[in-house]
Amino acid sequence: MNEPILVAVAWPYANAEIHVGNLTGSYLPADIFARYQRLRGRRVLMVSGSDAHGTPITVRADAEHISPLEVYQRFHESFLSLFQKLGITYDLFTSTHTNNHFRVSQDIFLALKQNGFLYTNRELQWYAPSQKRFLPDRYVEGTCYICGYTNARSDQCDRCGNLLDPAQLINPRSKIDGSVPELRETEHFYLDLARLQPGIVDFLRSRESYWRPNVLRQSLGQIEAEGLHGRPITRDLDWGIPVPVEGWEGKCLYVWFEAVIGYLSAAIEWAQVTGSPADWESWWQNPDARSYYFIGKDNIPFHAVIWPGQLIGAGTTFGELAGSTREAPLTLPFDVPANEFMNLEGQKISGSRSWAVWGLDFLTRYDPDPLRYYLTVNMPESKDTDWDWNEFYHRNNDELVATWGNLANRVLSFAFKHWDGSVPEPGELGPADLLLLEAIEDGFKTVADAFETVHLRTAVGEAMRLAGEVNKYLDDTAPWFQIKTDKAAAARSIYTALRAIDSLKVLFAPFLPFSSEKLHLSLGYTQPLFGEQSVVTLQDALGEHRALRYHSEKATGRWEPSQLKPGQALQAPQPLFKKLDASIVDEERGRLGVKG
Ligand code: MF3
Ligand code: ZN
Repeated sequence: MNEPILVAVAWPYANAEIHVGNLTGSYLPADIFARYQRLRGRRVLMVSGSDAHGTPITVRADAEHISPLEVYQRFHESFLSLFQKLGITYDLFTSTHTNNHFRVSQDIFLALKQNGFLYTNRELQWYAPSQKRFLPDRYVEGTCYICGYTNARSDQCDRCGNLLDPAQLINPRSKIDGSVPELRETEHFYLDLARLQPGIVDFLRSRESYWRPNVLRQSLGQIEAEGLHGRPITRDLDWGIPVPVEGWEGKCLYVWFEAVIGYLSAAIEWAQVTGSPADWESWWQNPDARSYYFIGKDNIPFHAVIWPGQLIGAGTTFGELAGSTREAPLTLPFDVPANEFMNLEGQKISGSRSWAVWGLDFLTRYDPDPLRYYLTVNMPESKDTDWDWNEFYHRNNDELVATWGNLANRVLSFAFKHWDGSVPEPGELGPADLLLLEAIEDGFKTVADAFETVHLRTAVGEAMRLAGEVNKYLDDTAPWFQIKTDKAAAARSIYTALRAIDSLKVLFAPFLPFSSEKLHLSLGYTQPLFGEQSVVTLQDALGEHRALRYHSEKATGRWEPSQLKPGQALQAPQPLFKKLDASIVDEERGRLGVKG
């Protein structure tokens, strides 16, 4: 059970800020899972970065009359800041706009080509003579040839809902300058998914017993119903990764083809940066390694079907091209625990309508742990969920503050005051004390079971339930009264409760790392549970880029019940959470839909 764990997290497009729906969909569950695995003592590598290429970035750049590079750099910087503030502990959060990623992507492409999984095809595409370039489908609008709607996108009509053949669009016009485009022939590389299908199906069947139903439906189910067909993996674009074939100048790898390769390239970059350049192989060329992909449901086909296809097709050839020390195929996903969506106050989250709670903006008014908690208890693990400000308010005050924060505070303050600032000597524990400690010890198993199957809501619910048990224990034993007549009995109860909260601190740590760290210090420990993150500037042949790095050298947290020693010196406790005023509910609702 000490296999290396790769925590692969969706790469956010660097064209918009991150909102709570994005956080609960992939970045937060990934971090919670990674922290749990680190506490278990496993070798975790958690990687991601900004998805810097593709039309989402160029559309924004065109709209703002700036370069795609500027768009990417602006949002990338804001991601670094959000993830650091929220404690999303990437071992490396980099970007697809690095020389390393270019090279690794091109090597995967070449490995697929060498192994016969690519072919070329000619097709008709809209070309703008005014700009001397081919236009991506979503840049061309015109009249729908099915229903006559005059503002249809060339690939899909928003009125009749049909997918369209771009070449049949009536009265086409460019969305950029209104000019009339013309059809021109262009050539592209295709990934031969029909040939990869048997391998992909075998892979999916081997995961069938434990994957989430929605993920299986959108992968194995779809293939069984419709089969797989070749997909173009190059584009006529100049912002992106050049196709590494002579005569293909001016064309780029399709953004989805190369972005998923980031999971591999980031591991390679991480290994270089940490001075152990072959270490990526421990996760990527190791049959015992387990990789978990944290993504939203809109990303399922790319991660559960096409990316495994790319990996299978690249086979051992990638390692040869990349100068690997092992001769081994690339590790296929162990699990893809994709989440559904989170809505906001009953409506779909929409950036353009300002119907969103933005991560960075939220953190200017509230602490990170309440956000992490609310997004965990409401995580859309099996169906869409809803962010509701009234519920946020209640979960904060009734659960975080009342059940957990006050418990920790009450016990610590009492111990601090009556036993000279240190953990009391308990004497021999009685049956009620032992029963509580056993219940908590069992919690380490049940919470771990929930983690192993990536059921984070169950895991956090179990931890909170145990906090409730400790409260009940204190109601029963009432050390605040015991102390008046029997100080030894009070010492036993308070020692037991201290041990219980010392354990709960660990159970809560993956979800609530900031408050667990604080409590850890109050309990008199001097070394932190987790490591630290910092923003670093890295340099490669493409230039400088900024990245987030997690350093685990000082981390001491372990997934095991408390062994708290009598006599350990405590620190004066500080409240773990802030009680919120009921007025925030209307205040926050008032902000929604208002353009900032
Ligand atoms: N940028 C995509 C999105 O935000 C996700 C890409 S995940 C990757 O939907 F693996 F492909 F990078
Ligand atoms: Zn139509």
